[in-house]
Amino acid sequence: MMLAVASVGPSNSMKILVTGSGGQVGQDLIRGLLERGHEVHGSDVASRPSALGVDASRLPWHHLDVTDLTGLRKLIARERPDIVYHLAAILSARGEENPGLTYRVNQGGVYNVLEACREHRVSQVLFASTIAVFGPGLPDPVPNDVPLQPTTMYGVTKVGGELLGEYYNKRYGLDFRAVRFPGLISATLPGGGTSDYAPLMYVEAIRKGAYEAFCRADTRIPLMYMPDGIRALIELSEAPREQLTRTTYNIAAFSPTAEAIAAAVARAVPGAELTFNSDPTRQAILDSWPNALDDAHARADWGWSPEFDLERMTADLVPKIRALLNAS
Ligand SMILES: NC(=O)c1ccc[n+]([C@@H]2O[C@H](COP(=O)([O-])OP(=O)(O)OC[C@H]3O[C@@H](n4cnc5c(N)ncnc54)[C@H](O)[C@@H]3O)[C@@H](O)[C@H]2O)c1
Repeated sequence: MMLAVASVGPSNSMKILVTGSGGQVGQDLIRGLLERGHEVHGSDVASRPSALGVDASRLPWHHLDVTDLTGLRKLIARERPDIVYHLAAILSARGEENPGLTYRVNQGGVYNVLEACREHRVSQVLFASTIAVFGPGLPDPVPNDVPLQPTTMYGVTKVGGELLGEYYNKRYGLDFRAVRFPGLISATLPGGGTSDYAPLMYVEAIRKGAYEAFCRADTRIPLMYMPDGIRALIELSEAPREQLTRTTYNIAAFSPTAEAIAAAVARAVPGAELTFNSDPTRQAILDSWPNALDDAHARADWGWSPEFDLERMTADLVPKIRALLNAS
């Protein structure tokens, strides 16, 4: 059975449910969706973050554990969102500490979300995939469509999410769309990913004047400033379906070495001491990830283009972190 799909454009106000909305991506995504005039409902297994900065009357908050299919069905049946952004997940570093939980939340969660959205005819599901779907030995930069052989449970469950979404699209006509996020950098504290060394260099340099990164200085993975990441998700959601040639897209911005990030931070925060002490477990994950992504399909199909490189991000981010730390 094919579903009737409402058109989602920049001028249409939609009712949107975000899972995992208390996290690093969710907090910024909520603000971005509200700014575009959408009706947004937050949901998380955790309570509403105190520093969210959005009035409770503008953002209803639902307690939702995505492993609970009954609870999900009830929430979606009651609120009837047009679009669901599915962000709830256990990230890579935390995921390797508890692979069982990661499987239940990430793999079970995406199945439950797709199933509840199919049953209640949600028009569109957006999924946050990741560079962790890739394993070692791929071309540099890594194209969109390559064998996916991740080395972490996190990566395995994200491959599963991409494939399930593709299945629901083909089998039921559910409008599933996904971006493979690089490591994301923002002023919000990161939530247990292996790319956390990059945002932590900024936050800790400003907060404590020093940071010892858990990777080698020559580590190089794809990174992106959060405003570009949020814009990518929203622009993919707004793209006409007929322009899309696939359900899952690589997106890229910049790929500096950890040493180059440290140098950018040191220029912006004079006196900050940034050092490296590689942790074998997290380094092995970083070494299994691509150095850079080829995002040609996202550029061609829906006009994706990043605005921020390392220097522009640093100039924008450092004052934001200072303001947040002064306010807390
Ligand atoms: N942050 C990054 O660099 C990055 C990179 C690539 C992909 N992603 C993806 O983006 C999404 C959001 O990542 P993030 O950085 O905001 O992560 P985060 O860890 O900061 O936030 C995840 C949120 O999910 C919630 N959560 C955990 N288990 C849950 C459950 N059972 N039910 C409901 N909520 C639950 C947590 O409470 C948390 O608020 C994830 O799917 C992640 O895989 C993030």
